[in-house]
Amino acid sequence: MRLMGSDVEFEIPRERSMLDVLNAAGHEVMYDCKRGECGLCAIDVVDVRGEIDHRDVFFSDHQKQENQKICACVSLARGTITVDTLHRTDAI
Ligand code: FES
Repeated sequence: MRLMGSDVEFEIPRERSMLDVLNAAGHEVMYDCKRGECGLCAIDVVDVRGEIDHRDVFFSDHQKQENQKICACVSLARGTITVDTLHRTDAI
């Protein structure tokens, strides 16, 4: 997974979620249920090279097909996706 506007790339290990990996790296992605139900952890997807496996029940099938957002707590990506967490290190 890449972050928009940077060279940062994360490998997401099988036993961890995108949410955990991003937050461990200081991205402060909000979350609540961690079960794919509330949608709070949804982040913007800007590019998909591969496939997203949406595992949430928050987005509609139509939204899932559009691939514009991903619930970082449960959904998986095969290949590389670029996301925008809206976290700006230079905005402090
Ligand atoms: S934390 Fe609720 S959908 Fe991800």
